[in-house]
Amino acid sequence: MADDAAVAKELEDLRAQVRYHLHRYHVLDDPEIPDADYDQLFDRLVSLEREHPDFRSPDSPTQSVGAPPATRFDEVRHAVPMLSLDKCSDEEELARWAERCRGLLDDDDQPTYACEPKIDGVAVSLLYEDRLLKRGATRGDGDAGEDITANVRTIGAIPVRLPNDAPAQLEVRGEIYMPIDGFHAFNERALTAGERPIINPRNGAAGSLRQLDPNITAKRPLSMFCYSVGVSSPGWQPQRHSETLDAFRAWGLNVNPRAQTCDDLGACRDYIRELEAQRDSLGYEIDGAVVKVDEFALRDKLGEVTRKPRWAIAYKYPAEEASTTVHDVEFQVGRTGAITPVAKLEPVFVGGVTVSNATLHNMDEIDRLDLRLGDTVIIHRAGDVIPQVMRVIESRRPVDAKRVAMPEICPVCGAPVTRTGDEVVARCSAGLTCPAQRKESLRHFASRLALDIEGLGEKLVDQLVERELVSTPADLFRLTKDELAALERMGEKSAENLLAALQDAKDTTFPRFIYALGIREVGETTAAALAARFGTLEALMAADLERLQQVEDVGPVVAERVVTFFADPDNRRIAEELLALGVHWAAPDGDAGEPQTPLEGQTWVLTGTLEQLTRNEAKAILTGLGARVAGSVSKRTSRVVAGPGAGSKRTKAEELEIEVMDETEFLDFLRQHNAAPADA
Ligand code: IVH
Repeated sequence: MADDAAVAKELEDLRAQVRYHLHRYHVLDDPEIPDADYDQLFDRLVSLEREHPDFRSPDSPTQSVGAPPATRFDEVRHAVPMLSLDKCSDEEELARWAERCRGLLDDDDQPTYACEPKIDGVAVSLLYEDRLLKRGATRGDGDAGEDITANVRTIGAIPVRLPNDAPAQLEVRGEIYMPIDGFHAFNERALTAGERPIINPRNGAAGSLRQLDPNITAKRPLSMFCYSVGVSSPGWQPQRHSETLDAFRAWGLNVNPRAQTCDDLGACRDYIRELEAQRDSLGYEIDGAVVKVDEFALRDKLGEVTRKPRWAIAYKYPAEEASTTVHDVEFQVGRTGAITPVAKLEPVFVGGVTVSNATLHNMDEIDRLDLRLGDTVIIHRAGDVIPQVMRVIESRRPVDAKRVAMPEICPVCGAPVTRTGDEVVARCSAGLTCPAQRKESLRHFASRLALDIEGLGEKLVDQLVERELVSTPADLFRLTKDELAALERMGEKSAENLLAALQDAKDTTFPRFIYALGIREVGETTAAALAARFGTLEALMAADLERLQQVEDVGPVVAERVVTFFADPDNRRIAEELLALGVHWAAPDGDAGEPQTPLEGQTWVLTGTLEQLTRNEAKAILTGLGARVAGSVSKRTSRVVAGPGAGSKRTKAEELEIEVMDETEFLDFLRQHNAAPADA
C-alpha cells in the first residue's frame, strides 16, 4: 500500500512537471530546461505508467503529443492526425526497428528507405485549396493546432500559389525553422536594441509563428522544409515518399536537399553517420535523422501504434545542450595576462563528450548570466567548439548560492589585477614576470602552429619555469642535456629527443615565427599576412602604424599592438636572440625580399573538414599568398575548398559555378605555389 502511494505521488509529480515544461515549450515558447532533460522526465513517466497500468490516466501528458492549442489563435482540427515519431539513438536499435518492420511485412516485400535530416523546428500543416494557400496551422497536440495562416503567408520559402499540375486540394506538412545565420543576426539586433534575445533557433521559429501581429513574423528569418502530405484530392497518387518529394520540388515547395533514398539498412547507417559529421555545417539545426519506409503500400501494412507510425523512426544524435551544476569558478591567467573565469562543472555528457569545464570569458559574461556558485546551468557544446554556458535555470538556484567576484590580485603571482579603459578583460599586471604568463607564452611559442616543438608538453614547461631554467623562448635553445635529464619524468633519451626537436624547430617559416612571438591580436592569419608583406624581421620591426595598416586585415588596433610589441627592448632582444641562436627560415622564392602574393585580389572560402591541414593553417597559407578568406560564398568568391561534410556553401558555389576543389587538389595547388606545408 505504502508503495502504491509512493508510485501515485511520483506519477502525479512527473505529470505536473511534464505539463509545466510542455506549457513553457509549446505555449510560452520559453523552455526552462534542455530538451534532453525534458525527454528524461517524459521517459520516466512512460516507463512508470507501463510498470503500473492501474495508475494510467487518460489525461496524462503521455496520452497526447505536444500541447493543446492556446486560445490566442483559432483552433484548426487536422483532417488526418499529425503523428509523432518513435526514436532510437544507436545503430543496434535502428537494426531492431528494421527487423520489426520486416517481421510485420510479407516475405516478398522489399522495403527501401527514405532518409532525411530531422529538422529542429516547428511542425506545420499548409492547406492549398484550388492551389492557393488557404490555411497554415501548427501541429498542436496532433489532433488540433493553431491557425497561423497570416504568419505563414509572410514566409518567403512558402509559395502562396501552386502550379496548375498540382492537385487542386493539397495539405502539405513539414517543418518551419530559423536558419542559424538568421538566428544570430536577429539576436545581434535584439541585443543592440536592448531587447530580449531568442534562446535558440527552434524557439525562434516557434515564437515567431505565434505572433499575433504578422508584421513581426515577416521580419523574422524563417524557412520551411516540406516532407509529407496530409490530404490531397484524388487523381494524384504517389506510390512512394521519394515521389512525393520530387513532386514537391516540381511545385516549388522547399524540400531538404539532403533527403535521400537508401536501398538497404547499411546505406541508411552511412547516411546517418555522414549527416552527423555535417551537423554543424548545415546552416540549420537538426536533432537527428529520420528513416522512413519509402513505399506507401508497405507503410499501410505496417500501420501505427500510439500515435507513432511503425514505418518511420527518428535516429537522435547526442543532444548539444544539457544541464548541470557549477561547483566553482576558477580564474585562469593566459599568455597576455588576461584573467578568464572558468566554470567547474559537475561532469555532464553533452554533444557526445563528457564536459567538466566551461569558459565564462570574462566578468561581463558572468554578470550577463547572473551566474552564482551552486547554480544549475545549461551547457551548449557543438562540433569542436569549446563548451559554453548558455544560461542559468533560476528556479533551481539554491538559497545559499554565492556570487562570483573577480580576484583583486593575480591568483598565480599575486600582482594587482587591472582593467584598462573600457576593456572587458581584466589582466594580471605583472607581464612576463608572472609565472602563468611565462608558461603560457612558452606553450604558445612551442605550439603546433608556432614553432611546433615536439615533446615540449605542459608539464615540462611548468617544470622549466618553476625551476627557473627558462624564462624566455630564447632560453629554450640554451638548455643542456644535463639540465633536461635532471627533470622529473625525463631521462637521457627524452632529453636527447627534446634537444633534437628543438634543433628541428629552428628550421621554420617567417609566418610561424611571427605568430610564435605572441604579439597580442596577431593570430596565424595576420602573421602570414605580415610575413608576406614585410619579408624580413628587420622590415617588420621597422614598420610604422601607417605601413602596418596597409596589410589586409590589419586595422589600427592590431597595428598598434605590433608597434608596441617591438617598441619594448626586451621583445626586440628576444626576437634577435632567437635568430642568433639559429632560428631561421627560407626566404621566399623570386626577387629577394619582394613579397609573393599570387592570389592578390582573390577571395577564397573554406568549408567542411580538412584532414591534412587545419582550417587555420589553410587560411594562413592563403592569406600569405595574398588571398582574402571569407566565411560565405557569393558571386565574388574566386574558389572554394570543400572537405567532407561541406554543406550549403558547396551547394551555393556549385549553383554559382564557382570552382570547388577538394583537399588533395588544394594541396596540389599549394605545391605549385611552393606553399604546401612540409608535412602535408
Ligand atoms: S516525419 C509521422 N520528417 O519530428 C511522421 N518529421 O517527432 C512524422 N520532424 O512532429 C513526421 N523533421 O515536427 C518527419 N524530416 C522529418 C522531420 C520531422 C523534423 C519533426 C516533426 C514531427 C517530429 C516527430
